[in-house]
Amino acid sequence: MLKKTSTTADYIALEDQYGAHNYHPLPVVLQRGEGVYVWDIDGKRYFDFLAAYSAVNQGHCHPRITAALVDQAERLTLSSRAFHNDCLGPYEQFITEYFGYDKVLPMNTGVEGGETAVKLCRKWAYEVKGVPENEAVVLFVEGNFWGRTLAAISTSTDPSSFQGFGPYMPGFTCIPYNDLKALEEALRNPNVAGFMVEPIQGEAGVVVPDEGYLAKAYALCKKNNVLFIADEVQTGIARTGKLLACNHEGVRPDILILGKALSGGVLPVSAVLADDPIMRCIRPGEHGSTFGGNPLACRVAIAALEVVRDEKLADNAEKLGRIFRKAMAAVIERHPIARLIRGKGLLNALVINDSPEGQVAWNICLGMRDRGLLAKPTHGNIIRFAPPLVINEEQILECVDIIDRTLADF
Ligand SMILES: Cc1ncc(COP(=O)(O)O)c(C=O)c1O
Repeated sequence: MLKKTSTTADYIALEDQYGAHNYHPLPVVLQRGEGVYVWDIDGKRYFDFLAAYSAVNQGHCHPRITAALVDQAERLTLSSRAFHNDCLGPYEQFITEYFGYDKVLPMNTGVEGGETAVKLCRKWAYEVKGVPENEAVVLFVEGNFWGRTLAAISTSTDPSSFQGFGPYMPGFTCIPYNDLKALEEALRNPNVAGFMVEPIQGEAGVVVPDEGYLAKAYALCKKNNVLFIADEVQTGIARTGKLLACNHEGVRPDILILGKALSGGVLPVSAVLADDPIMRCIRPGEHGSTFGGNPLACRVAIAALEVVRDEKLADNAEKLGRIFRKAMAAVIERHPIARLIRGKGLLNALVINDSPEGQVAWNICLGMRDRGLLAKPTHGNIIRFAPPLVINEEQILECVDIIDRTLADF
């Protein structure tokens, strides 16, 4: 056990010795969070510009969300779906009305949401579309990221995700992102059941497709009786300046996957939303999860979504995103090491003039850490900037100044 006097190095050494080495964290040991800030074990304060991969859109330890958590934790945390509980029905009504779908299927992590969507899509293909048994194909795009299960890595084009973990799951086809011709071509296969896509690719480095891509992709899917599945685990829940990133193009996905900020970062809560003709394809015993739809998750998710609505976080993300990118454009002009800034709302990335294997972006992140801002490269030379959506203008301009001063060192 560590003592009160333990140092950053002590904590890191413990993780190194006793934990699997499946992450490469920035060397900082956090102890507390509130709103846009986190504090390390020495009491140093940082702006959190990762927001736990967009799970903490509502800000750290939002009092309304933690109050719901504590209140419910003292009553009933888990009943399992073997019995009904008095939180699930009200939550299901709340979230389906909030996003405008007939039904929800509650799960826990984002990747379980993706798995659920794919299962639902395959079942729909056999029962409704009439695809021959075991022949259903789900289309994915290059650069996708939807988690670490075997199905998810079977669709991945990133060797660090899939290499060494084969054999891979059949029934998936990967086409280029932001390429409508490729989609049109792939849709010629009558066994295609669904097209699963992130409206903006988060983990790939905040890759924003051309305007109109989503709307046209959706129309192509409709024309071919194929389900449009939106993975909004990272882009959803106000992150990109609208409640859903698909809203930017007026697209209503046939299957919508949510996670991360659905709990405000309090506990793993994910959800798959769809209308009856799709959702009714799954019957008792065919899918589930011990923790999915637990009372704690239901109460927390309602509070988390209320905060997004009541604090107008989508509007704030839209407004501050524009301010941030404008200020960053001027910063980039001053520093040749910085190539470009891109994104929507408060999901943005700075591309560094370095190779993807280079160390510059990592070193910039260390420099920003020293000045009180935490961010991390997504892919070598790309640094994602995704603060909690409760950030204000003064704070975001202070952050731009930190980034500016750090870049001056490179
Ligand atoms: C778009 C997207 N989908 C799915 C996931 C997986 O979520 P989880 O890590 O909660 O399984 C992520 C995680 O980063 C994601 O960005």
